[in-house]
Amino acid sequence: MTMSQGSGPIYHNFINGEWVPAASGEVFENRNPANTEDLVGYFAKSARTDAERAIAAATRAFDHWRLVPAPKRAEILYRAGQMLVDRKERLAREMTREMGKVLEEARGDVQEAIDMTFFMAGEGRRQHGQTAPSELRDKFAMSIRQPIGVCAVITPWNFPMAIPSWKILPALVCGNTVVLKPATLTPLSALNFVKVLEEAGVPPGVVNLVTGGGGDVGNTLLEASAVNVVSFTGSTEVGRTVSTKAAPSFKKVHLEMGGKNIIVVMDDADLELAVDGCVWGGFGTTGQRCTAASRVAVHRAVYQAFVDRYTARVRELKVGDGLDASVQMGPSVSRGQLETVMQYVGIGKGEGATLACGGHALDKGAYAKGFFHEPTVFTDVHPQMRIAQEEIFGPVVSVIPFDSFDEAVAIANGVEYGLSASIYTRDINLAFRAMRDLHTGLFYVNAPTIGAEVHLPFGGTKNTGNGHREAGEAALDVFSEWKSIYVDFSGRLQRAQIDTE
Ligand code: UN1
Repeated sequence: MTMSQGSGPIYHNFINGEWVPAASGEVFENRNPANTEDLVGYFAKSARTDAERAIAAATRAFDHWRLVPAPKRAEILYRAGQMLVDRKERLAREMTREMGKVLEEARGDVQEAIDMTFFMAGEGRRQHGQTAPSELRDKFAMSIRQPIGVCAVITPWNFPMAIPSWKILPALVCGNTVVLKPATLTPLSALNFVKVLEEAGVPPGVVNLVTGGGGDVGNTLLEASAVNVVSFTGSTEVGRTVSTKAAPSFKKVHLEMGGKNIIVVMDDADLELAVDGCVWGGFGTTGQRCTAASRVAVHRAVYQAFVDRYTARVRELKVGDGLDASVQMGPSVSRGQLETVMQYVGIGKGEGATLACGGHALDKGAYAKGFFHEPTVFTDVHPQMRIAQEEIFGPVVSVIPFDSFDEAVAIANGVEYGLSASIYTRDINLAFRAMRDLHTGLFYVNAPTIGAEVHLPFGGTKNTGNGHREAGEAALDVFSEWKSIYVDFSGRLQRAQIDTE
């Protein structure tokens, strides 16, 4: 699969069970965001022809894969899960090197893929349908899940193994075939995952990997009539394009997009616990989670005490190369992402928010070769400011004061997104009211907005999603269609709704 070119290995596409270069022979570079002199490797710069070949392979493979009994499909997944366990440390290190998240978190990312692999393998012996009584005599009624066909899986760089796993595994266990286009910033982790599936015994053509840009590979997948399902995680802006491009061919489209998640800290909260949650929720993964707690709303009665403790803790965070075990926050994934962070710091200052800590890119000494930025907190933020409304996807948190629970609910819901929210309180009544009234797909009590587990539905409301969920049993709904089946064993014509006696 790999050869060396210049200073780095070359990684190929995986089409129809073979590792092949792009038809054009072109490649793109993947570099370490903590040290851009570190070349992770070259990856196939694919174009329309490569994507079309992958779609053709997936289309052919569907004919036999859909007929493999689901428990047999699942056996392959169990093997893959064990292989991921065995390789976890290496895969995590390679992930940190290409994506920048600290090693402990990269291990978590691989673990999330392991969890999903075992969970979805279990679905091989479930995928339950319904049996129901018929309104007619001697007639049997049931519903079963059926695979849909070729699934295009378009994944982001922030969870470079977990998110491909969230999509590919339910697709496979339901009997579909897949073409994966991972983010160009993190192709290696996606490739490592596909390699495990190959070695575990997924037949040729059932999973295909095509690396390259959205313009070439992505558009081909979205426009191809042979692609039946698209599952995309990324920005709301790109999600809108995905939705539009997939619409003329009526693909089933699952979108998982932006967030502007909030932690609400009530006046009766355990403040130390809330500070812990806001540090982890805001700056874990350098704020590059769609679930990141980029807003913190604090009751005015504890506002100053919270801000003092929070900013003191944030100032202490050690920023650096994620492979260094003492580092707590890695770089942004790319120069573009770092520039977005810097722009928003400027926007926040311009809007009149108080820059309580951070606010600068780190570019001296050991930081000079990477995309580092100080963890940054704005306080006295008005909920309508852009820094409190727009997804930044970086280490910038807006702290917003409020006077009442109702005001906190209005602030929480007053954004275009609805992925995750949380409340810190000891008042059980308020906790339940918040659970009910905050309009998000994920909700936490006395825990931060990040940290969803694989066996419950994952996704958001409003401009975060389009009504589907991944993870949990809910993911099967994206990757299967219901077929309702009626078996009449009466031996005579019976007319539903008419022969009612
Ligand atoms: C994402 O940010 O896109 O709940 C996924 C969490 C992780 C997944 C995040 N388990 O934060």
